[in-house]
Amino acid sequence: MGIEAQGGQKTAGANTVAPATGKLGVMVVGLGAVATTFIAGVEAVRRGLAKPIGSLTQMGTIRLGKRTDNQSPLIKDFVPLADLKDIVFTGWDLFEDNVYESAAHAQVLEKGLLDQLKPYLETIKPLPAVFDQYYVKRLHGTHVKTGKNKRDLANQVIADIQAFKKTVDRVVIIWCASTEIFITPSAVHQSIEAFEKGLDNNDIGISPSQIYAYAALSEGVPFANGAPNLTVDTPAMVELSKKNAAPICGKDFKTGQTMMKTVLAPAFKARMLGVSGWFSTNILGNRDGEVLDDPESFKTKEESKLGSLDYIFQPELYPDLYKDLYHKIRINYYPPRGDQKEAWDNIDIFGWLGYPMQIKVNFLCRDSILAAPIALDLVLFMDLAKRTPSLRSIGIQEWLSFYLKAPQSAPGLYPEHDLFIQSMKLKNTLRHIMGADLITHLGLEYYD
Ligand SMILES: NC(=O)c1ccc[n+]([C@@H]2O[C@H](COP(=O)([O-])OP(=O)(O)OC[C@H]3O[C@@H](n4cnc5c(N)ncnc54)[C@H](O)[C@@H]3O)[C@@H](O)[C@H]2O)c1
Repeated sequence: MGIEAQGGQKTAGANTVAPATGKLGVMVVGLGAVATTFIAGVEAVRRGLAKPIGSLTQMGTIRLGKRTDNQSPLIKDFVPLADLKDIVFTGWDLFEDNVYESAAHAQVLEKGLLDQLKPYLETIKPLPAVFDQYYVKRLHGTHVKTGKNKRDLANQVIADIQAFKKTVDRVVIIWCASTEIFITPSAVHQSIEAFEKGLDNNDIGISPSQIYAYAALSEGVPFANGAPNLTVDTPAMVELSKKNAAPICGKDFKTGQTMMKTVLAPAFKARMLGVSGWFSTNILGNRDGEVLDDPESFKTKEESKLGSLDYIFQPELYPDLYKDLYHKIRINYYPPRGDQKEAWDNIDIFGWLGYPMQIKVNFLCRDSILAAPIALDLVLFMDLAKRTPSLRSIGIQEWLSFYLKAPQSAPGLYPEHDLFIQSMKLKNTLRHIMGADLITHLGLEYYD
């Protein structure tokens, strides 16, 4: 008989996840709005100045056993996560601004808070970046590495990682840098060998984000990707990730409009309501908005944002409801709003006998405020994956799809976009690695 807290699926788990002892080094690629809001936020929480709202690892609980057991510890007390006080930050950027200066420029956090954190934030100064304007047209930076080819640049990033490793116990890298131009996977992305040849030959298909990712994975360091760039979504990087036990996950933080989409669309599908059109538009005035104003970077973002509805609605299974869905996404650069994005969705749905209805969603959000806790959770969970024998060598951590607009999954497997399926998958993965019963929500045992 099925039970809500399902037994018989325990793993050896509990004693095999290595503890989070010592310092966790976090290397952030790109010290812009999201990264500085993340770093300053962690420091504010460490000092007791604010709460880590939006972070599942810091505020979330996990139910264990039956509903009648009343056992719901904090996630951070259930799985061995690094403590915030043990995180050490560094990063790369093509501008020389330290984290205080960059945060002040981004204008996300109030000056009063930033000034309290200034002595600490000023100490985090970027390493020179791997950058090429061909891949991000709207940026011009001078704090940039030079080398004889892409292999040389990768080796310089590897040297940065090795030097940082000497000062901490473990390292995770997270991409919080800009959206690159759209790159279609080509021959150079099909194997480690082809990729390494491409580094030697300066293959145009290898962008800076791929160079950082190659360096991270070569060093056995987990790599999370907050932007929609191709980066690790290639057979070569999956192979390298598995080979060196360096976890990867999908791409592009799932923050505002797409988060809402992956909540609303599953509700329509669960109730068998049809959708004929979904128009999404945004105004955004930060540097990310400026980069996305370039059509080639926008294309990368658009592809990442478009995927979710098709996968959730499964028009091949429900042609009467979703096969004619018209999905359109616009992002408009509008400087007066800065980081305070405004998003509008018009959803044309239809119900019983085909009668049409409309839903309007107007989300006035703060982009980096939504992204910062996701960056924190990804870093902590990727570090956990690296310390977990059953996770570290599988490559893609599909259980972290919860955080990402474009989840990555095994070849031939469609990705799960539904936020609630993703949430269940994440929590069951935590139960699984700790040897606890999985929860199926069947619940018949309460009525025996
Ligand atoms: N904030 C959100 O809600 C959200 C959601 C999903 C994805 N993202 C993505 O997160 C990324 C960061 O967003 P942001 O608002 O902080 O942008 P931002 O422009 O403020 O910061 C990006 C930083 O990356 C640096 N950079 C660019 N290329 C680099 C390279 N090759 N090496 C090192 N540094 C480099 C830039 O100089 C800049 O300082 C963007 O790609 C954005 O699309 C943000």
